[in-house]
Amino acid sequence: MKGTIPKCLEEMVRARHGQETWDRVKAAAGLARWHTFLTTEDVSDQMVTDLFGTAAKTLGMPLQQVMDDFGMHWSTVYAPDIYGVYFRRASNAREMLLSMSEVHRVTTGKVPNSAPPRFDYEWLDEDTLRMTYRSERGLAALMPGLIRGVGAHFRERLEVERRGDDMIVRFLGEA
Ligand code: HEM
Repeated sequence: MKGTIPKCLEEMVRARHGQETWDRVKAAAGLARWHTFLTTEDVSDQMVTDLFGTAAKTLGMPLQQVMDDFGMHWSTVYAPDIYGVYFRRASNAREMLLSMSEVHRVTTGKVPNSAPPRFDYEWLDEDTLRMTYRSERGLAALMPGLIRGVGAHFRERLEVERRGDDMIVRFLGEA
């Protein structure tokens, strides 16, 4: 996978817990002190999964909490900065989430051997969307935080319930 996910994890840990804590995560993960992730580099899927686990252990936090914090940071700080065009194109959280298959296709389209996640959508009622994660990587646990972050970015109230690879998103209006 591209280094963009570990890069964002690095930025989230540094922003919320400080550089010194990130240095400890790196040491625990066996990475050099000077190491920093690049968005363009290739990082093995295993390494990314392990890094979340190492971060959780080092921070003394549940893994899901680290994944939720990652998702919030991705959708409200990191991605609006480096992928801002996709946020500006959408006028609300619904449009943003519905554009995600296309955005992942476009952002990874020219990348050799990339296998971006895809999403299927079904409206269960006019305010309830089922967004299904389709990827071999088994990172559905990142989805609730990423989706909550999209709601926060657009200043909307929404609830996410994860049922395996299905995310049930209830749009509750403006925050
Ligand atoms: C502008 C917004 C976004 C951009 C540009 C973006 C881009 C990317 C990129 C480049 C990757 C790495 C893919 C690879 O190396 O093959 C990735 C991974 C991923 N993205 Fe996004 N993303 C965005 C928002 C989101 C949102 C809102 C969600 C969830 C609702 C999401 C879910 C995921 C997941 C779960 C992965 C991990 C890879 C996998 O499981 O296969 N992304 N994204």
